[in-house]
Amino acid sequence: MDLAQLTQDLEDLRADAVAGVDGAADVATLEALELDVLGRKGRLTSVLRGIGALPVEDRPRVGAVANAVRQAVESAIAERGTVLRAGALEARLRSEAIDVTMPGRPIRRGTLHPSIEAMSEIAAIFAQFGFVVYESPEVEDDLTNFQKLNIPPDHPARDLWDTLYVDIPGLLLRTHTSPGQIRVMESTKPPIRALLPGRCFRYEAVDASHGFEFFQVEGLMIDEGVTLGDLRGLLDQFAHAMFGAGKKTRFRPGYYPFTEPSVAFDVECLVCGGPGCAACGRSGWMTILGAGMVHPVVLQYGGLDPERYQGFAFGMGPERIKMLRHGITDLRLFLENDLRFLEQFR
Ligand code: DAH
Repeated sequence: MDLAQLTQDLEDLRADAVAGVDGAADVATLEALELDVLGRKGRLTSVLRGIGALPVEDRPRVGAVANAVRQAVESAIAERGTVLRAGALEARLRSEAIDVTMPGRPIRRGTLHPSIEAMSEIAAIFAQFGFVVYESPEVEDDLTNFQKLNIPPDHPARDLWDTLYVDIPGLLLRTHTSPGQIRVMESTKPPIRALLPGRCFRYEAVDASHGFEFFQVEGLMIDEGVTLGDLRGLLDQFAHAMFGAGKKTRFRPGYYPFTEPSVAFDVECLVCGGPGCAACGRSGWMTILGAGMVHPVVLQYGGLDPERYQGFAFGMGPERIKMLRHGITDLRLFLENDLRFLEQFR
């Protein structure tokens, strides 16, 4: 081994390594090449083993060539590495690119159940007249559901409500929201303007217009000097807001044990507008709710002095109001959870 041979070997190694580096297709290949040429057990080290066979005075010259080769290979690797890493980044950015102009995936949104929606529409209208929403229990006692509403035990008026009783004596599922009137009177001092939306239950043969479970919205206003005229004016405003301005309305005599006098409140038929059709039973009118002046006995049961206070109350079925407005003919749809029905209320 002489100086010329060793120098030639080093130059060959440089040429070969640089060619390899320039041809490396990716960073991993480049790193493998670096280890193979410059590593501790690499090709440069093994060429330099021949240095021991040279005369001492030649060794520094081989060292200088070896350093130049190392530097050339290192800078070739660095240069190629920069190019490869930039390319890899570019490719990644391209593959992960997001098209921000693409339309989003639609999110399926739920809707309010039509019964709930009807109740919030009703509450929104009465809120404009200062009515505040109260809650009252669904499992009620006989005293509040009936007796304090002027419906004594064994009184024939009980036949108006087919009742579901629970196992605990004296308790039942409320047949209407009217017991909420008593609870509001017992817990609040007049002036009272209360709205009581909630679920009611009856032992009822289910058909297109009867359910064993349905909603009601109860209203109660109590103050000094409240009259039937106030009730009429308020209900007119309600009917106009709910069914359209200018709709004709009327009071008909009715009977409820807890009001005196009692009325049924009708609005002109929403389908025929008066002459009479199948939807209104040829009468030209649709009944919206029951109402009346709170019976003095009921005020007394509520802890109020009937000589000082008067009030009116009303009770309506939100499902019925939705049915009238949208021409729905079967109450059972409200309980069946059929999306084909429910999705029409988006
Ligand atoms: N509670 C009655 C029912 O379920 C509805 C009703 C009628 C409520 C007249 C009232 C009222 O407050 O004054 O049939």
